[in-house]
Amino acid sequence: MPTRRDFLRRTALGAITWPAGIDALGRRLHRLHANEQEFWEVVRQAFIIPEHRIYLNVSTLGPQPRAVIDAVVEHTRRVAMTYPPGVDWDGLKARLGAFVDADPAGFAFPRNTTEGMNFVANGLELGAGDEILTTTHEHIGGLCCWQLLAARRGCALRQLELPVPPESAEQLVDVFRRAISPRTRVISVSHVNFTNGVVMPVRDIARLCRERGIISVVDGAHPPGMMRVSIREIDPDFYASSPHKWLLAPQGTGFLWMRDEWRRKLWPTIASGGWDDLSLGAQRFNHLGSLDESRLAGLDAALRFQEAIGIDRIEARVRELRRHLHERLAANPRITIMSPSDDALVGGMVSFKVAGEESLALQQRLARIELDGTEWSVRTRVIGEYDYGWMRLSPHVYNTIEELDRVAAMLPA
Ligand SMILES: Cc1ncc(COP(=O)(O)O)c(C=O)c1O
Repeated sequence: MPTRRDFLRRTALGAITWPAGIDALGRRLHRLHANEQEFWEVVRQAFIIPEHRIYLNVSTLGPQPRAVIDAVVEHTRRVAMTYPPGVDWDGLKARLGAFVDADPAGFAFPRNTTEGMNFVANGLELGAGDEILTTTHEHIGGLCCWQLLAARRGCALRQLELPVPPESAEQLVDVFRRAISPRTRVISVSHVNFTNGVVMPVRDIARLCRERGIISVVDGAHPPGMMRVSIREIDPDFYASSPHKWLLAPQGTGFLWMRDEWRRKLWPTIASGGWDDLSLGAQRFNHLGSLDESRLAGLDAALRFQEAIGIDRIEARVRELRRHLHERLAANPRITIMSPSDDALVGGMVSFKVAGEESLALQQRLARIELDGTEWSVRTRVIGEYDYGWMRLSPHVYNTIEELDRVAAMLPA
C-alpha cells in the first residue's frame, strides 16, 4: 500500500523529470560531437535570445535555455492543478553534488549568493575585535554581510588590495599570508572576482585558513557552469553560489554548501520548524517557509542542460571565447585590459578601459548601435564599484566568435 510519503516523493520526482527536450538535445549534441560549429549552433538554438541581441553579461544573470523555462512553467502548472507540491531534496542535492563535486548533505538552497553569504555571516559567533579579511574585489553580495557584522557587533573588516592584473596565484595567496593577524577569524574571498574575472587560488587560501584556525568562506557566485568546480578539492568551510548566473538556472536560485561541522554549529538566520533539530544538518537551512519550488525544478533542468553539453566542453568553449575576445581587445591601442591573459588566472570575463571614452558612455552606445547596416543591442556591465570604471564582457556558450568580432569592431580604435 503506497503511503502519502511515497506519493509525495513520486510527484516530486515527476515534477523534475519532464524536460524531455534536454534528453533529445543531449542525443543530438552527442551525434554532433565532432562537428564543432554545428554543435554550438544547436546549443545557441536552445536559447530564446533575439538574433540581434549580443548578450555579454551572464556574470550578472544567465539567460535561461528553453528547457529550463519549460521545467519552471510545468512545475508552476502542476502547482496550479493542485498536485501536492514537493521538492526531491535528495535528488537535487545528489545532482548538484555530482556537478560541483561536493558532499550532497552539505547543501542548502537560499535564493542567491547574497542570501547564502548572509546566512554564513549571521550564523557565526563573531564579536568585537574579531577580524574578517576580504578584498577590494568583492561584490556587495559577498561584502555587505561582513560590513553589517562590523557595524552591529564591532568586528574589524579589512579589505585587502590585489594586484591588477595579478602575475601568479602565489602572489595572491601572499596578500592573505602577510595580512593574517592573531585576531583573524574569517577570510572571505570570491572564487572568481566579478571585477576582472581573476580566478582566486581558493584551494590554497582555504588550506592556509585551516593551518591557522581561520574560517574560509568562498563567494562562488560565478564558477559553477563556467568551469569545472570541485568543492571537495577547495575544501572551504562555506561555498555560496548563484546558479542563475553561469549555470543558467531561473532567477532567484542559489546554493550554499557548508562543511560537516557547520551543519550543526551554524545558527540559522531564518528559523522555522526543525531549526534546532541538529540531526537535520544543512537541511535546517532549507526550512524557509513556503518556497517558489518551480525555481528548484528549473535548477534541476539547468543542471541536466549543462550535463547534456558537458562541463569540460563548456569550460573549453568559454575559454576559447574569452581568449579570442582578449586578443581582439589587446590589438586595439586605445584599450587597456585589467584581466589576466593567462587561462590559469582568469575565468570567462574580460575587463578593460578605452582611452577617451568613459565605460558608462560606451555601455549606452553599445546598447543600441548600428554596424554594417544592422542595428545591434549589446548588453555589457560597467564595474563602477570601487571607482574602477571598467567595462566587463562575459561570453558564454550561446555567444559566437562572430558576435565577439562584431563587438570588437564597435569599439573606438
Ligand atoms: C562575486 C559575486 N558575488 C555575489 C554576487 C551577488 O549575486 P546575487 O545577486 O545572485 O546574490 C555577484 C553578482 O554579480 C557577484 O558577482
